[in-house]
Order: sequence, then structure tokens, then C-alpha cells
Amino acid sequence: MDAQQSKAVEESKREQEAELAQTIMARNFHPSVIGPEAWEGYMFSDLEIRIKESTDLYGAVLWPSAMVLCHFLETNRDKYNLTDKNVIELGAGTGLVTIVSSLLGAKVTSTDLPDVLGNLRYNVVRNTKGRCKYIPVVTELIWGAEVPKRFPRTTHCFDYILAADVVYAHPYLDELMDTFDYLCQENTHIFWAMRFRLDPENNFVDRFQQRFHLEELYDLPSLSIKLYRAWRRDKRTTDHRETAA
Ligand SMILES: C[S@@+](CC[C@H](N)C(=O)[O-])C[C@H]1O[C@@H](n2cnc3c(N)ncnc32)[C@H](O)[C@@H]1O
Repeated sequence: MDAQQSKAVEESKREQEAELAQTIMARNFHPSVIGPEAWEGYMFSDLEIRIKESTDLYGAVLWPSAMVLCHFLETNRDKYNLTDKNVIELGAGTGLVTIVSSLLGAKVTSTDLPDVLGNLRYNVVRNTKGRCKYIPVVTELIWGAEVPKRFPRTTHCFDYILAADVVYAHPYLDELMDTFDYLCQENTHIFWAMRFRLDPENNFVDRFQQRFHLEELYDLPSLSIKLYRAWRRDKRTTDHRETAA
């Protein structure tokens, strides 16, 4: 391929990525009439999903990475079928990923910090009640040392770990890494949508790759978001953390 051809290929790739980003963002709509309660609308699985946000906490706002992950799960459901699968979402925020994966048939454990759970539970119940095979469980999960105690592997085994925009300049990146590591068993897939902002994000990806294989599923430069699938590199034989807990 000569330089002109490879430039044309690059150009067409960029156009496709921009088109995909636009398609994903077009799933968001605003209420046509302003009512007593503010909400944002999203279309997934041919259903209208209404999300209540508030501006006081990070987890009370819906981030574009969540839409990217939901779009992938919905449009790749033949390849990664969530029906009857055990799924955990980390840093669920306003709950869109939990809601969409529940609509796709998964048994979802939706987790976040205690302060975020009230709004998360409200959104999850409002959008999944009577629409899903399994009622999602909303519960606290603070990344770090307590995870093995709260989620012992004997009773908590996940097919999929989902996470959208959980890596940014916060002080708990090591704890987050350990949480991925603890929850990810031999046959677990991680789907992780990542918004790139500053250097800590890049460092985290490098460190993540020491423990996990990483496949890039989407690269959306117009949104500064990449979507990854990951699985563990080593076969774990014993779990010192669980036995120590
Ligand atoms: C940028 S928000 C993303 C929310 C949601 N996933 C989305 O994409 O809309 C980051 C989320 O991580 C959660 N979070 C931050 N630090 C955490 C910690 N130490 N343990 C558990 N969750 C945490 C926040 O509460 C928030 O919901």
C-alpha cells in the first residue's frame, strides 16, 4: 500500500469512527415537555430509559462512556450474550449500563459508593420494573480491601464485569485495579469503557495490561473514549486474599 492509499484508509477509518460516535450519542434525547422532574432519555433495546441526574456528585451524572458500553452490548448481543449471565457493574453511577444489561437478560449486581446508591436504585427500579427477567441488585462496593469480605468467591462468581469511566484522577486507582483483579476469574470477561483525559489514565492502562489481556473494541477519538475487552493473563490457583479475609 502506498502513502496515498494508506492516507485514504486512515481517512475512511476516522470517518467511520466519527459516524459511530454520532450514532451512539444520538441515543440520548431530552423530554419534549418540561415536567416537575428533570430527566434525560436514552433509547436502548427499543425502549425508552429515563435517567435522573443530579450535579452534586460524580456518580450522579451520566458520562458518555456509559452510552458507548451500552451501545456495544446491545449491538453485539449475539457474540456476547448476556441472557442469564452473572454480571457486576463497578461505579454504576446513574445506572444506564446496569439497566441496559438487565434489559438484555443479565442478572446484574449494580455497585457504587454509598452516597450514590439512592439515585442509582431509583433509576434502576424505575427502568427495569416489569421489563426484565431478573431484578437487578443495587449494593455498595467500595473499591479495595473490603471487596473479598463482601463478595466472597464461593458465592459471587461473575461472567462479566462492566465498568464505564471509572478511571480518572482519583486517589483509588490501586484499589480499583485490585478490585478488577479480585473479581475477574478465569472465564470472566471485563468490558471497560475508558475516557482519556490526563496521564493517570494512560498509566492505568499500561499497568492493567500487566495483569490482563486487552482487546480494543472501539476507538472513538471524537469522544476521547476507548472500549476494551479484558481477561486475566494468569490462571489463579489459590486466593491468598480470600483465605486471609
Ligand atoms: C465518572 S463516574 C462514572 C459513572 C457511570 N459509570 C457513568 O459512566 O455514567 C465514576 C463512578 O465511580 C464511582 N467511584 C469513585 N470512586 C469509587 C470508589 N472508591 N469505590 C467505588 N466506586 C467509586 C463514583 O461514585 C462514580 O459513580
